[in-house]
Amino acid sequence: MASNSDALSIEICPSILPADFSRLGEEVKMLEDSGADRIHWDVMDGNFVPNLTVGPDVVASCRKCVTIPFEAHLMVEDPDLLAPLYVEAGCDLIMVHVESVRHLDRTLNEILKLGAKAGVTLNPSTPLETIENVIHLVDQVLIMSVNPGFGGQKYLASQEPKITKLRNSIAEQGHAIDIEIDGGINEGTISQATSAGANIFVAGSAIFNHPEGPASAISALREIAVNT
Ligand code: DX5
Ligand code: ZN
Repeated sequence: MASNSDALSIEICPSILPADFSRLGEEVKMLEDSGADRIHWDVMDGNFVPNLTVGPDVVASCRKCVTIPFEAHLMVEDPDLLAPLYVEAGCDLIMVHVESVRHLDRTLNEILKLGAKAGVTLNPSTPLETIENVIHLVDQVLIMSVNPGFGGQKYLASQEPKITKLRNSIAEQGHAIDIEIDGGINEGTISQATSAGANIFVAGSAIFNHPEGPASAISALREIAVNT
């Protein structure tokens, strides 16, 4: 079992995907009031993934509703074009997919130059080797535990060895890098993901569909992760 570094905090990051898009500002405020550590913006372009979500103007209009950090998960064909727009919209951390970037080193450096934190995301089929030469540039690695594009999918436990390998490798190198996991996280799966080495948890349906509401969902998820 891998252990999380003491320096890294456990954070619960609701995905906006299941929110009521007709009143997104109120939804992000509700998530902040419910104890969310960050808002996870699932940005989909209908091309890299077969679904379409929010543009930068929508994110910018919600920025004034809350003070917690915004992170953008860019599931888009052209992250070089779009990343600056989401930084300008108020995202503190921009995560690009390894699979959609031709010059990853350049793209990550450009995000850093814009004053944002940079993250890389790996699809379930993508090996860790694809990021080993850029790991020094990133604040966070996002491991997909579903194939991106939709909420409400089943958690892929097959990704856990990848998380553990990454956690051990960054610990050996002395980096304080967050490992975030995204897809199918709920009260039944978060413990395994924590044991594998993840410390930041995205959850959409588990938070919005919880019978006792989002605040109960967030505190239950946090409690399990902290006590794992
Ligand atoms: C999938 C998105 C996820 C996902 C999370 O493409 O990146 O953020 O919607 O939703 P749940 O928690 O429902 O799997
Ligand atoms: Zn996501």
